[in-house]
Amino acid sequence: MTQRSEFEKVVYDGGFRTLLTAEAIDARIREVGRQITEDYRGLQPIMIGVLNGAFLFMADLIRHVEIDLEVDFIKISSYGNAKVSSGIVRMLKDINADVKGRHILLVEDIVDTGGSIKFLHEKFMALEPASLRFVTLLIKPANVETDIPIDYVGFSIANEFVVGYGLDYKQILRNLPAVYVMD
Ligand code: IMP
Ligand code: MG
Repeated sequence: MTQRSEFEKVVYDGGFRTLLTAEAIDARIREVGRQITEDYRGLQPIMIGVLNGAFLFMADLIRHVEIDLEVDFIKISSYGNAKVSSGIVRMLKDINADVKGRHILLVEDIVDTGGSIKFLHEKFMALEPASLRFVTLLIKPANVETDIPIDYVGFSIANEFVVGYGLDYKQILRNLPAVYVMD
């Protein structure tokens, strides 16, 4: 008998609790997209996705932002394979664009302790953008240890480890179409 994959355990065995359905995520992303459209009209922002987690959110979000915009990506790592933040952020891939004088929107999958956005805030402010704002699909307000404002938040969630829709556990389960709580 073949062993069940983690994906099958979540989707077919009901192993994990569904936190956000694909429909709920889609509806909220449309609202956030509309808000960004209004706020950035005429500004041609550059939206920078934070890899790997934000790739699905970013792909869906930009299709609801109905203005001229550019995209780029940065890859950072703070977790390794652990479920709790190590607090140490490393940059694994930098952006290619010159962002001086530009309106930057950084797109995150989830803000947990806020260590990642603190790192990103420092890095990008040093590049003298015209403006810098953060977008995140999820935030765990109980855990956040920084007062850097998050300008656009999809959903505030409890302090639970979640997977799916880009978010991983040990690099897998990113391809789940909804967000699940992993107990
Ligand atoms: P922070 O630096 O502590 O805010 O952590 C942010 C990063 O940790 C996110 O961009 C995610 O990649 C990862 N992370 C935090 N919480 C979770 C979770 O519940 N599931 C999966 N990844 C998470
Ligand atoms: Mg991340």
